[in-house]
Amino acid sequence: MKVEKIIFAGKYIKYKLFAKHKKGFGIHSPFLYRFVSEVLYGERYFYAYDDIAELRYDMLDSKEKIKVKDFGSGSRVMKSDRRKIKDTVKYSAISEKYGEMLFRTIEYYKPKTILELGTSLGLGTLYMALPDKKATVYTIEGCPETAKIAAQNFKRLGAENITQIVGNIDEKLPELLNNIKQLDFVFFDGNHRKQATLDYFYRCLEKTGKDTIFYFDDIRWSKEMEEAWEEIKANEKVRLTVDLFFSGFVFFGKELSKQNFVVKF
Ligand SMILES: C[S@@+](CC[C@H](N)C(=O)[O-])C[C@H]1O[C@@H](n2cnc3c(N)ncnc32)[C@H](O)[C@@H]1O
Repeated sequence: MKVEKIIFAGKYIKYKLFAKHKKGFGIHSPFLYRFVSEVLYGERYFYAYDDIAELRYDMLDSKEKIKVKDFGSGSRVMKSDRRKIKDTVKYSAISEKYGEMLFRTIEYYKPKTILELGTSLGLGTLYMALPDKKATVYTIEGCPETAKIAAQNFKRLGAENITQIVGNIDEKLPELLNNIKQLDFVFFDGNHRKQATLDYFYRCLEKTGKDTIFYFDDIRWSKEMEEAWEEIKANEKVRLTVDLFFSGFVFFGKELSKQNFVVKF
């Protein structure tokens, strides 16, 4: 085993053993308590969970291959540019557990303007679009063939509130932000490089309001991503951050004290 893998495993074991606040126990901040107990560990069931799960299983059964154009930091597992759809689902798509948590987040805070960087096959997009059909979800994907499958998925589940943008986030994000007054929720999940992540963060930061929430995936994907997460947490506009080890939430509410919580999930 490589040294980095051993260090990563050690960090994960430490997180699993020592991360506090499981199910909200011992949390004093009412805002954080509600987030942990009602969103992270919320037990309500939604029909859309089953619709998205069925779509996932159909793609996992698919034998179809598509030609993939990789813009980001690439995949550690998939090296060929002709990829089976089912492998993209397995290795790149949001999991059921995290997707349903994302759904509960949107359902609970009711953001009206949502942005996703990195659509892939659209599973994460659907978890954010289906809680409230009146919200608008913008999603940017660089790979045209992947985006085409995502478009079919959106149609199948009747998610007409999704606006798909195909192209490089580096170019499409500034164009989109010129036409948006405020971002209420942003899911950062494309291009897991430090500089790109920070560039997208600073651009989106210009469009935050007091209730805006940012959600970053893969904050421990690499040393670079960990450095990006550290810089984001330290930003003066950022108040509360919630570290779930693989991903992290950022809240901006001025009433919140500047703190980072590591929460077991
Ligand atoms: C981890 S996947 C996204 C998973 C998806 N958000 C979900 O919840 O299932 C990352 C996606 O970002 C796309 N991507 C990476 N860098 C990009 C860039 N610079 N511009 C556009 N898309 C990019 C990749 O093509 C890939 O489909």
